[in-house]
Amino acid sequence: MAISRRTESKKIFICLFGFVLGSLFTLKLLTERCLARNNACSSTPPADSQQQAVFENSYQFEHEDIRYINRTPGFRYYDDFLISPQNNIYLAEYKLHYCKIDKNMGSTMQAFLCYIDAPQKHSNYFFNGSWNAGLAGSACSTSTLSGELRKRFMTGAQNVDFFSEKSGIYHLAIVRDPISRFVSAFVDVCIINTFEKEYPEKFKTLCFSCRSNMTCFLLQLHDYLYRISEHLPKERWFRDWHFYPQTWYCDFDRHITRYHLIHYKRNDEFYKELLEFLRNIRVKSNLVDDIETKLRKKTAAHATHSKSAIYEKELLESPFLLEYVYKIYYLDFVWFDYRL
Ligand SMILES: *[C@@H]1O[C@H](CO)[C@@H](O)[C@H](O)[C@H]1NC(C)=O
Ligand SMILES: *[C@@H]1O[C@H](CO)[C@@H](O)[C@H](O)[C@H]1NC(C)=O
Repeated sequence: MAISRRTESKKIFICLFGFVLGSLFTLKLLTERCLARNNACSSTPPADSQQQAVFENSYQFEHEDIRYINRTPGFRYYDDFLISPQNNIYLAEYKLHYCKIDKNMGSTMQAFLCYIDAPQKHSNYFFNGSWNAGLAGSACSTSTLSGELRKRFMTGAQNVDFFSEKSGIYHLAIVRDPISRFVSAFVDVCIINTFEKEYPEKFKTLCFSCRSNMTCFLLQLHDYLYRISEHLPKERWFRDWHFYPQTWYCDFDRHITRYHLIHYKRNDEFYKELLEFLRNIRVKSNLVDDIETKLRKKTAAHATHSKSAIYEKELLESPFLLEYVYKIYYLDFVWFDYRL
C-alpha cells in the first residue's frame, strides 16, 4: 500500500513536472514565433484567413468526431472551433469512408467512388469523360469540400458514431512514399507550373519564389510548415495541401488504427490491393472490372514525368536535402512504414 502510494505520488510529480516544462516550452515557442513574425498571438484569427478557414461552424454538429476529421491539416491553433475543407467521401451503401490525401491518386479515387455509387447515372462520365477532380461534368466533379458529396459525408458522420468499432464503417486512405509524393508535388506545382494559367497572380510567389531550386524550396518549406504547425499563419500559402505531411490528414492522430491503409504505387501489387479492397466491401464484380480496366489504361497514359526522375535523383543523392525531407515528413515515414 505504502509503496503504491509512493509510486503514485512520484507519477503525479513527474506528470506535473512534465506539464510545467511542456507549457513553458510551448509558451516560449509561441512567444518567439509571435515576436519573430511581428504578429500578435491573439485568440481570433485575422480576418483574411478567417474567411478562408471558417467554412462551417463545428458546433452545429453533435458528434465530437466530426470536428477533427474536418480540420484543415495544419490548422491546429484554431481548429477546435472550425470545420474547414477536408477531403472525405462517405458511401453509406458500402459503409465506406474514404479520406483523400492530396497527391495520392485522389481525383481518380473520387471518380471510382462516384461510379460505384451510381453506375447508371455516371457511366457516360466514367467511360467517356475526363477525371479532373472526380467525374468532370457531373455533380461528382465538384470538390469534396462542397456540394452533394460533402453533404452526404456530413450527414453520415453526424448520424453514425463514425469511428466506433460497432459502426462497421470501413475507413480507407491511400498513403504514399513521402519522397515520391514530395517530388511529384514539387514537379507539378513548381516545375510544370500546373497552376500558372489558373492562378497567374498567386503563381509568382507560389514556390517561395525559388523557381526550380529544390534546395531553396525545401529549406523554406521546412520553416513554413514548422511555423504553421505552431499556429495559424496570417497568410496561407496557396496550394499548401500538396506539401502537408500525410500524417496531418484524416485525423490519424486519433484514428490511424481504424484505417485500412493502402500504399500507393504505380504497379500491379497496388492495383490488386485496391481492387481486392473494393471486392471485400462488396462492390459488384462488373464494376470492379470496369475500374481495373480504367486503372490500367490511365496508368499507361500517365507515364511518369521524366522531370520527376531528375528531381528524385537530385534529392536522393543529396544527404543535405534528404535530411530536410526526413525532418518534414518524419512521421509519414514512421507511421506508414516507409524506410528512412
Ligand atoms: C461514350 O461515347 C460514345 C460515343 O459518343 C457512346 O456511343 C457511348 O454510349 C458512350 N458510353 C457510355 C457508357 O455512355
Ligand atoms: C539554390 O538555393 C540555395 C539556397 O537558397 C542557394 O544557396 C543556391 O545558390 C541556389 N542555387 C542556384 C543554382 O541558384
